[in-house]
Parts: sequence; C-alpha cells; structure tokens
Amino acid sequence: MRITMIGSGYVGLVSGVCFADFGHDVICVDKDVSKIEALQRGEIPIFEPGLEQLVADNVRAGRLSFTTEVEASVAASDVVFIAVGTPSRRGDGHADLSYVYAAAREIAQHVDGFTVIVTKSTVPVGTGDEVERIIRETNPQADVAVVSNPEFLREGAAIEDFKRPDRIVIGLNDDRARGVMTEVYRPLYLNQAPLLFTARRTSELIKYAANAFLAMKITFINEMADLCEKVGANVQEVSRGIGLDGRIGSKFLHAGPGYGGSCFPKDTLALAKTAQDFDTPVRLIETTISINDNRKRAMGRKVIAAMGGDIRGKAIAVLGLTFKPNTDDMRDSPAISVIQTLQDAGATVTGYDPEGMDNARLVIDNITYADDAYGAARGADALVIVTEWNQFRALDFARLKSIMKSPVLVDLRNIYRHEEVTKHGFAYTSIGRPMNGAEL
Ligand SMILES: NC(=O)c1ccc[n+]([C@@H]2O[C@H](COP(=O)([O-])OP(=O)(O)OC[C@H]3O[C@@H](n4cnc5c(N)ncnc54)[C@H](O)[C@@H]3O)[C@@H](O)[C@H]2O)c1
Repeated sequence: MRITMIGSGYVGLVSGVCFADFGHDVICVDKDVSKIEALQRGEIPIFEPGLEQLVADNVRAGRLSFTTEVEASVAASDVVFIAVGTPSRRGDGHADLSYVYAAAREIAQHVDGFTVIVTKSTVPVGTGDEVERIIRETNPQADVAVVSNPEFLREGAAIEDFKRPDRIVIGLNDDRARGVMTEVYRPLYLNQAPLLFTARRTSELIKYAANAFLAMKITFINEMADLCEKVGANVQEVSRGIGLDGRIGSKFLHAGPGYGGSCFPKDTLALAKTAQDFDTPVRLIETTISINDNRKRAMGRKVIAAMGGDIRGKAIAVLGLTFKPNTDDMRDSPAISVIQTLQDAGATVTGYDPEGMDNARLVIDNITYADDAYGAARGADALVIVTEWNQFRALDFARLKSIMKSPVLVDLRNIYRHEEVTKHGFAYTSIGRPMNGAEL
C-alpha cells in the first residue's frame, strides 16, 4: 500500500513509521519545514523511546520518506491519513478543526484515482461528514471514501501500543474502504488485534468516550485519595482493593496531581461541548473536568501546606515537568499549574526534567532550570516530585539532605514509602496515604 501521512507529530510520525515497518510505502508530510528538514537529516523532533532507530531502519529500507510537499505523495497514494492537531479552540473549548479541514482541502486538490482518506486525528462526531463535504466541494471529481480511524497510542509507549493495540477501530460508511483498511492493518490483524468496524460517527465517538472514561477513572481515584487523607486510609490499598475486581481493572487508578497531556484535557472538554450542542450534557464529564482543573492548583497548595503555610522567599525544587514520564510533551502538564501556584505565593522555583526542558522553556520561562535532580535540590527549602521519571525513584536522600536547606519532600506520585524517606530525617507528604506512615 502507498500511504501518505499528513502531520508528522507524535501520532503521525509514530503511525507512519510503524506502517512503513509493516512493509507499506509511507511518505510523512508536515507543513513545519524545520521538522521535515530535521527528519530528513535523521533527527527526531520529539522524544519517544525506540522511535529514532525505527525511523532510521525504515528510511534505510526505502519505505519511509519525509516531505513538505503534499501534492506528489497524495496523488500517488492509495490511502491518505490526516494526523494533524485538534487542540482546544481558544475561547469555547470546542475542538479546533481548522487544521483538519485545511488538510482535507489540500488533499482534495491532489487525489488521483480512488483514494481512502482516513482521519486519525481525534475529531468530534460528524467531522468525517464535513471532511467528505469539503473534499466534494473542492474537487467534485474526486473519488474518495472518508474513514474514521482514531488512534489510541500512549506517548512514552507509542510504538509498542501501535504495534500491539487492544483494538483497531475503523468507522466507515463506504464499503469500498473496508478492504483497503483491512490491508493497511493486515500485519496486526494476523497478530490477532481485533479490527472493530463501525459506522463513521460511532468510531469518532468511541475515541472520546474512551478518553473521557479514563479521565474519569483517574479523577475518581484522586477524589478517593482526598477522602483517604481525611479518614486515615491508604489510597494505594484502595486502588489495589478495587482494581483486582475484574469489572473495574487496576489501570488508571494511581492517585496523583490530576491528569494533563495533549489528549485528556482537550478531549474531555470537546466531548462536553459536543454533548451540550446536542442537548444531552454529559454531567459526569463536566464534573470530571472541573474537579481536575481545581486539583492542579490544589496540589500547589498542598506543597505550601507541607512547608508550613508561608512560602514567600522560599526556594522550591520541582522534579519532573512533563505530563508523564518517557515523553518530552509539556501540553497541559500539571507541573505548569503547580509551579504557577508556588510562584503566586512568593516562592522561587528550580526545575529539572530528563527530556522535557526544551519544551518546558517555551511554556514556563520564569524558573531556573537545573542539570539534574541534585542541582535542582541544592539550597532548596522543599523538593516536589511532580512526574515519576524512573531516575527519581531511587534518589540519594543522604546526599539530598546535605545539600538542601531543609529536608522536605512532597511526593505527588506516591513513588516512595513514608518510612524510607523519614528515616533520613525528611518531612514527607504524599497523596492519599496516612501522614504517620501507618502502612502495612
Ligand atoms: N499525542 C498523543 O498521544 C495522541 C494520541 C492519540 C490521538 N492523538 C490525536 O492525534 C492528533 C495529532 O496529535 P499529535 O500529538 O500528533 O499533534 P502534534 O501537534 O504533535 O502534530 C501535529 C502535526 O501536524 C502538522 N500539521 C498541521 N496542519 C498540517 C497540514 N495542513 N499539513 C501538514 N502538516 C500539518 C503540524 O505541523 C504538526 O507537526 C490530535 O487530534 C490528537 O488529539 C494524539
């Protein structure tokens, strides 16, 4: 199959290289010239484990290339994926579909022969209809089938997720596309990954329903954590106790500073807006959004409380800036709100992140950046773990105590046990666990 991938960001690049690895001929397009030039030089513009090698292998094998020119690649393709961004629209929170529609217009001008146009971007119900209308309006002769194929990969484990998905959802209203999409995903299908064919609108909604459900699950356990703190219970044991129930499942039950990232915040908001437009508000999701928004600043207040309530003039070290480990993605990271809250209360912040500091500098410009965890901690009145990178899981507390001004640790990811931290003389605060360390 000859495939064009429009948009070479986290999803487009990973999907494109994985399709090439399956044996398809793939051209990744992006309008960002610097991104494409970097890829042509063999440099990967994002951090994603395993991606650099996979790109190099497939470029060498002649199955993968990069361009800014949509024209030739679309004309020669059997399948064109749209994997451009769908951020929150400024002002009202609806998904901003301008990139998707612009891509549809460009594709329409260049398609040649029967072509399957696939929306991989996360888009609200009905977007496929509009993409189809735009293509027919732009080029009435175009022979296309417009398909929805939402992506479920997770940053940090994107290649593994793409190659071993729980399911592949394909929404179509034109049966000619069914055989083409089956061929595109054949290697995964042979690996037993279920292909779920639905109508296009259903497929579009499945993606939002999945993300909203996961966001709700995280928010649920975060609220349980708050209750645990009040009643002297341990949220990690609550998670385990309910997660072992097969009807509930153990994933997405880790209490923390609130969900962030490039998907959950914007997708929950977009779903709530869509539902309001159709006069069926999804109150559970609206509530989830508001609880999560409040939580991020509440985590800043938790740090302030752990430091005695007045942090004016105090120095705080923040470890982990990205919204989760193993990515350089800073979009809607809880660290942004936590740091802002600390600064608003008069503290100065030094931050460190293994991969996210270049992106962090674009969104948080008034903190000091350190070269490692110890550099951040030097002279600090408190150390706050916001993102659970592996390298923060075995900190040298004796060393930290010797370089910090006061030994205070706030662990917003529960990666330590009370006893292992307090035995080094640290005051330790975590999420939803007894302050006195009364753990089994
Ligand atoms: N990041 C994730 O983990 C993830 C997971 C599942 C689904 N998604 C969805 O996938 C979509 C893409 O997300 P992302 O994180 O890859 O975004 P991204 O911002 O990393 O990448 C989007 C890319 O599209 C390019 N682009 C925009 N318009 C273009 C055009 N007309 N022609 C060529 N290139 C164009 C941009 O320059 C950018 O490089 C979104 O809808 C998102 O919700 C993301």
